[in-house]
Amino acid sequence: MADIFQRKRDHIELSHKGDVDHGQHRGLFEDLHLVHDAMPELSMDELDLSTPFGHRLLAAPLMLTGMTGGPPEAGEINRALAKICDDLGLAFGVGSQRVMTRADEAIPTFKVRDAAPGVVLLGNVGINQARDMGPAKVKDLMEAIEADFMAIHLNPAMELVQPGADADRDFRGGYDTIGRLMEALDGRIVVKECGSGIAPWVVKRLGDLGVPLVDVSGSGGTSWVKLEALRAEGDLAALGLSYADWGLPTAAAVALAARQRGPSGPQIIASGGIQNGLTVTKALALGADVAGMARPALQAYLDHGAEGATAFLKNVIAGLRMGMALTAKRRPDDLRDAPKVITGQLKAWIEQVR
Ligand code: FNR
Repeated sequence: MADIFQRKRDHIELSHKGDVDHGQHRGLFEDLHLVHDAMPELSMDELDLSTPFGHRLLAAPLMLTGMTGGPPEAGEINRALAKICDDLGLAFGVGSQRVMTRADEAIPTFKVRDAAPGVVLLGNVGINQARDMGPAKVKDLMEAIEADFMAIHLNPAMELVQPGADADRDFRGGYDTIGRLMEALDGRIVVKECGSGIAPWVVKRLGDLGVPLVDVSGSGGTSWVKLEALRAEGDLAALGLSYADWGLPTAAAVALAARQRGPSGPQIIASGGIQNGLTVTKALALGADVAGMARPALQAYLDHGAEGATAFLKNVIAGLRMGMALTAKRRPDDLRDAPKVITGQLKAWIEQVR
């Protein structure tokens, strides 16, 4: 098990200190400009940030997306961050639970319910592992940690540069797998990418299968291709680095998914490069229902402990409240109607991708 645990440790360490930012943009949120309202005619006390998340409710439209589990220190991170999310009324996702099927000592590192009894909790497994283990075993993983949803992650770009025998090379049967999981898990599924984005036609097919939540996790934040390339050697590392900036930028992925899904499609989670409350405000203005963060929250925790991570997330929420006030919006979903100017590359992506 040393190998898988080491891989999880590498992920935490490279996310903490490594140069794993997307090299060209910040999700293209920089190309979205919201128009300032100098006379908003509202009191900050009137703002209501509560947001449905599938069958559950969040105090604010924010979550921490899946990151870790396996080695003991990953368990500490999961428990601390889950508790913070519970206290703030946010959703929390554990990292890939595949390691639970291989090492019994990994199991407790995913169990956060004692620390965070009320948190909206997401389990996590890759789509290929879900296909290969079958829906009943995925359900077991979800129930073992008392999760509300199972996040099924998609990450073909990262798999293709991941060194080692665990890397996937066969991406067939994905939609069929999601269809079977929808049935077995009573629809409590979130489909997510890991930083390369989900194109609108994929969102459409997932919506047709009844998937209630899609996390488009676009490019602009943590580059997982770059991160795996840093772990690889020789030709594989060079291949990975040539694709380090691959992906659908998060702001474009959100806008395209929102246009695609119509009134009855899945809720959209915007992650990948969400840095602060202003980026959350912009993501919601483009049509996201919830914003998700991974690495910035992990860094706040690793640098400044639970108190620092709490302060960081409170400041993200304060930034969202400020964005709502300055666009004269009382509720997060009112932000969709905020007057906006879309420039540059974001405009081109939205116009040219169908
Ligand atoms: C991740 N991410 C991730 N996603 C997933 O579905 N399963 C996983 O096991 C992991 N593991 C993981 C570890 C660490 C240390 C980080 C920082 C991230 C991906 C994550 O959920 C997210 O999609 C991307 O990181 C993009 O968001 P940020 O980091 O730009 O906010």
